[in-house]
Amino acid sequence: MMVVSTMTSPDTVLDFAHAVALGLSDRPRWLPSRFLYDERGSELFEQICELPEYYLTRAEAAILRRVAPVLRRKTGPVTLVELGSGSSVKTDLLLAAYAEEGASVRYVPVDVSASILRTAAERIEETFPSVNVSGLHGEFEQALPLLEDYGPVMLLFLGSSIGNFNQAESLAFWRRVAAALPRGGWVLLGVDLAKPAAVLEAAYNDAAGVTAAFTRNLFARMNRELGAGLDLAAIGHEARWNPEWQRIEIGARFHRRQTLHVEPLGRRFTIEPGELVMTEISRKYSLPNLTEYLRCFGLATAHTATDDQRRFAVLLLQKGE
Ligand code: AVJ
Repeated sequence: MMVVSTMTSPDTVLDFAHAVALGLSDRPRWLPSRFLYDERGSELFEQICELPEYYLTRAEAAILRRVAPVLRRKTGPVTLVELGSGSSVKTDLLLAAYAEEGASVRYVPVDVSASILRTAAERIEETFPSVNVSGLHGEFEQALPLLEDYGPVMLLFLGSSIGNFNQAESLAFWRRVAAALPRGGWVLLGVDLAKPAAVLEAAYNDAAGVTAAFTRNLFARMNRELGAGLDLAAIGHEARWNPEWQRIEIGARFHRRQTLHVEPLGRRFTIEPGELVMTEISRKYSLPNLTEYLRCFGLATAHTATDDQRRFAVLLLQKGE
């Protein structure tokens, strides 16, 4: 039986309003990227994953397909807990190995989109009869304290999602993960590797304009949920490689002056022509640096795999006994 439990509290519009007011009060202005993933944003992100320029998803899938049996041998039977599971399509590649010969497996996808979670859970239970799916609808912070209930566990954090974290957020995330993970517990981490700027910039400025629509949807969401009153046609998408910080920086360029209302708080912000509101960063990694960094949290790298062009990497980490 498929179960989806809701962990999200009902005041998310107010959370959104406070987060928007905070970021727009700062200079340069910014918005937290997790709000990109409402129902429409999650759909657009699924489309991004299919774009010819966006190599990340295909490269990661190729690695997972190849290493799944190796991982299964290394970790033994585990509950798979996936943070930000989305459509869970790539997870099939792992489940195929973990559920081989009808082995029973527990899969716990965690996502902020309830509809995507439900669709994924139904599809997986149909494809893999021996997989028991218990979906958790909410933020991943809410799922971490539940880890100790699952016995031997492997936490999945795929798609280079950690790339969205700045240094402070990354530190907080890994501290939390390391604290929540039982000794000997596993983490499977997918990360995008640093590469020439032209390849990276193409991946975030696709010709079909899907990434631009993804960025613009954050402002459409403000119109819908906060009564922002923005003219979306006057907001452009920009994505640039910052070599110093080894990250793609994504933002919205305002082409003319606009007043942005945050109705739940009774506040308004005036954004000037030419101003950039940063919506996302996407950090790119070097394997030696990342391995060293993760070791500081007691997470040892047990296995590393890359695709044939070394564009992307999947790391198996284990918390020290
Ligand atoms: C989901 C954070 C991995 O940074 O590549 C893709 C998000 N934004 N295109 C990424 C994203 C625009 C994506 N992550």
